[in-house]
Amino acid sequence: DSADKGEYRHYMLKEIYEQPKVIKATMEGRITATRVLEQALGTDAENLLENVRHVQIIACGTSYHAGMVARYWIEDLAGVPCSVEVASEFRYRKHVIQPDTLFLCISQSGETADTLAALRQAKKAGFRAALAICNVPGSSLVRESDLVIMTQAGPEIGVASTKAFTTQLTALLIFTLALARHNGLNAEREADIVKAIHLLPGQVNDVLALDGEIEEMSKAFMDKNHSLFLGRGSQYPVAMEGALKLKEISYIHAEAYPAGELKHGPLALVDSEMPVVTVAPNNDLVEKLKSNLEEVRARGGELFVFADKAADVKPEEGLHVMQIPSVHEITAPIVYTVPLQLLSYHVAVLKGTDVDQPRNLAKSVTVE
Ligand code: AGP
Repeated sequence: DSADKGEYRHYMLKEIYEQPKVIKATMEGRITATRVLEQALGTDAENLLENVRHVQIIACGTSYHAGMVARYWIEDLAGVPCSVEVASEFRYRKHVIQPDTLFLCISQSGETADTLAALRQAKKAGFRAALAICNVPGSSLVRESDLVIMTQAGPEIGVASTKAFTTQLTALLIFTLALARHNGLNAEREADIVKAIHLLPGQVNDVLALDGEIEEMSKAFMDKNHSLFLGRGSQYPVAMEGALKLKEISYIHAEAYPAGELKHGPLALVDSEMPVVTVAPNNDLVEKLKSNLEEVRARGGELFVFADKAADVKPEEGLHVMQIPSVHEITAPIVYTVPLQLLSYHVAVLKGTDVDQPRNLAKSVTVE
């Protein structure tokens, strides 16, 4: 067991550190220097994607957050409407199916009961086809889907999902580019994003090098009972994922909000006992975010901001800034996930919880 963990104290930390390698493995054979190789997504992929007019994503937990990020990409790059829903809600309600809707399930294990039930329903209901993004070859999800894009994360042991999420995002971005090509994405924009995908392993490594600073930052969370995570745009699901990681393994109550919703309620909670973690967007929304930060600071809230070093968010009293190397706006959610994983990990270690096997949770939820 300890041999499997190698030099690492926990599986979760090992899996966080494996991300440069497994992201690379997930992109390998699926992109050239400048293009997505559509045929690598399956022999039938081209034919199937040609007529997709809508995408319905279904997943649970962390995989659902990957789907939330993908929605921003799919609507932005492919201009195809996309809905995302947790499987346990989807399976128990009536839904209107738009013609030519692709049903997309995301699951690390491929055995999550609600996701499988939703897929089985969808197959009877008249969706165009079922695509799976999955990490376990031979799983029920893989066997029952028409088209499969495997993530290459390797076995994930820690209950808190880490490398599965970033490889799901990598696969989803490659899928989005293939879909976008059928919907007018030009070769120049495709090349720009494919080049950004190639940079990911190196960029994730650069973020891992901030581990010591993040460990230092984690001390501020140790004696807190609540926390708020804010993000805008495609960084909002990253904030959701960061909050899920913190509650799962450190048992600190963490809630994620889109930053623009702050003054519609959660601002009332903010005081010096409520740390606010913010994932800054890599675009012109950063200016709006700065005004959200001011609102928090004015109420005595302590802020922990993860921002592009070019975004010019300056540290001040009550405002801690973790500078992240500049990355492409589209791939930013993948890179910014990593410091939040490390933050949760270090808070949990300080609190002495069972990091790899948090109380009450199972790795794969095969029952309702
Ligand atoms: C993530 O850290 C979780 N433990 C959990 O939310 C998980 O992502 C969810 O149960 C879905 O699992 P799946 O990806 O195997 O379907």
